Amino acid sequence: MAIEKLKKIWLDGELVDWESANIHVLSHSLHYGLGAFEGIRAYQRTNGSTTVFRLPEHMQRLMDTCKLIAMKPEFTKEQLCRASTELLRANDLTEGYLRPIVFVGDGTMGVYAPENRIRTAIIAWKWGAYLGTTALEQGVRTKISAWVRHHPSIAFAKGKIMGQYTNSVLAKREAKTAGYDEAIMLDTHGHVCEGSGENLFIVKNGKLITPPLSSSILGGITRESVLQLARELGIPVAEELLTRDQLYLADEAFFTGTAVELTPIREVDDRAIGEGKPGPITLRLQQRYFDVVKGNDESHPDWLTLV
Ligand SMILES: Cc1ncc(COP(=O)(O)O)c(C=O)c1O
Repeated sequence: MAIEKLKKIWLDGELVDWESANIHVLSHSLHYGLGAFEGIRAYQRTNGSTTVFRLPEHMQRLMDTCKLIAMKPEFTKEQLCRASTELLRANDLTEGYLRPIVFVGDGTMGVYAPENRIRTAIIAWKWGAYLGTTALEQGVRTKISAWVRHHPSIAFAKGKIMGQYTNSVLAKREAKTAGYDEAIMLDTHGHVCEGSGENLFIVKNGKLITPPLSSSILGGITRESVLQLARELGIPVAEELLTRDQLYLADEAFFTGTAVELTPIREVDDRAIGEGKPGPITLRLQQRYFDVVKGNDESHPDWLTLV
């Protein structure tokens, strides 16, 4: 569904009208995909305030992605955090999604264009449940993709690098065309990595397991938050390599990510996970996550930036 047009977009240090935030077709990133982006959510809490979930951590990952691809943004992490809250206010958004991007502008063409300006934008829009509200309640049907996650010698799994997402787009399209909700990608050795835009967890015999950061996954901020919440709830956690058969035989499985939040997985490759519906540990963690990000659980004030 097309996003609703709002009032302002933050572009290179200024709030400009939504319609005026245009870039030239010769923008280098449009041709070669070198650029960094983030996805962040702001929620209206039960007490009426609007807070951004883990804003500095997201902006730090944006900076880290820029470092990976040797791109120097014109703005600091702190400036981008302030710009984000300013943008939400300018658009009267009490809830929404933030998409910062750092990209290479126009000028020189060809893959080597060190003189082109590094541009920065932040866009905010209204975004509900990424895979739909039914997905959050009942879980999603997934398919292991024929597309393999990035090999560490070819790309940086730890960066949200624009061009790398063709891999995710292809996997997602393949899954949707085949009638599934989401794709799960393996690495070149056959280990389970993550979804097209989300991390993956399984529960087996009461233990929560997710692939380690040393595998080809994005270091998800939701992943890290959920690991912490699970530890606080006394749920045993492990970061271990997972095989496809371990996934099929899991008692429960779910995705985490800023967009999907915490979405149960009810099926993988036409095999029911557990009883084919969200399991008790998944539901407990989902409840806790939503309480922390938008409910009345105030146990993690350091995760919330007031708008
Ligand atoms: C490939 C990939 N994995 C995992 C995630 C989840 O990361 P986070 O929880 O930081 O949104 C994302 C989303 O940013 C992603 O694009």
